[in-house]
Amino acid sequence: MTTYKLPIVQGFEHKINHKNTHLITLKNRAGMAIALTDYGARLVSALVPDKHGNLIDVVLGFDSIEGYLQAKEQYHGATVGRFCNRIAKGKFHLESNEYSLALNNGNNCLHGGIEGFHRKVWDRQVSFKKLVDFYYVSPDGEEGFPGELKTSVSYELTNENEIIIKFRATTDAPTVLNLTNHAYFNLNGEGNGDVLNHLIQINADEFLPIDENQIPIGKPESIEETAFDFRQAKTIAQDINAQDDQLEYANGYDHCYLNKQPISQAIASAYSKESGILLEVFTSEPSIHFYTGNFLADDVGKSGHRYLRYGGFCFEAQHYPDSPNHPDFPSVVLRPGEVFQSEIRYKFSIQK
Ligand code: BGC
Repeated sequence: MTTYKLPIVQGFEHKINHKNTHLITLKNRAGMAIALTDYGARLVSALVPDKHGNLIDVVLGFDSIEGYLQAKEQYHGATVGRFCNRIAKGKFHLESNEYSLALNNGNNCLHGGIEGFHRKVWDRQVSFKKLVDFYYVSPDGEEGFPGELKTSVSYELTNENEIIIKFRATTDAPTVLNLTNHAYFNLNGEGNGDVLNHLIQINADEFLPIDENQIPIGKPESIEETAFDFRQAKTIAQDINAQDDQLEYANGYDHCYLNKQPISQAIASAYSKESGILLEVFTSEPSIHFYTGNFLADDVGKSGHRYLRYGGFCFEAQHYPDSPNHPDFPSVVLRPGEVFQSEIRYKFSIQK
């Protein structure tokens, strides 16, 4: 069995574009611990108690900044912005201007462009070893987006084994934004095989079907009698190879589910029988993007194990993909004087 520990701080002491990077750790009274870094305002590790009384690291990642810089997969644990998920052809209109973004995913702009927010060193402030605030000011025109955007992301570890992530942003000109966290979880422990045996539940009746470029076609559709129905918990394995164009286009699950739940009710959960760990996700965001790590390919992670296809899954709470090009989707426009705020809560517990 792998013994999981938090990475050591030295691996995270680095300089990127004249800014120092760090590792920050938070611990709670229940024995849980998380590690964060200001490089991408990301979650590096989450050591969670399992049913055998061991602490296991359920978040995929690396033990050094170098690891993150070299990884094929750029988004491990990161705060993704300005616009997470895809914008078709990297183009959108806002107030009669057309904006063009970098294309970094075929014909699409994915996760805010080439550098996005995930490759920036954020400023940080640690309060009472319980809470970390990260700050980043994105200049007007960065990656093609209008307006100077002041963004903050805070991570709190509660004594109830919850990681609470709060996003806040303001702008000096009309703009669009969509912020999420991109942690890959494996509730058997990072690097410990794939997640196909995890039981997933998603409390949503509708999802957004996509085209072959992974852009929503238009209207939400019912998940009833499709491989996308997770209202009753089922393993990822159960239907992932079903004959379905939707699964083919994305190489697995990589789809947006509509969230009609209040933040007090979990929109989704994942459970591993092996570890007994249950992860529940609560959010104020109108959707959750369920991604089964279909494109993970051979990075060597913290445990020295390879992260292969399906080696982790993401529950990315966010607005709908390509919203700027779909006026009928919930608005992603932020104007001067407005404050964008959203919240994601990952709650861990043991179910025997
Ligand atoms: C997207 C995937 C993409 C991955 C990259 C996910 O949020 O939905 O399609 O390959 O991020 O890390």
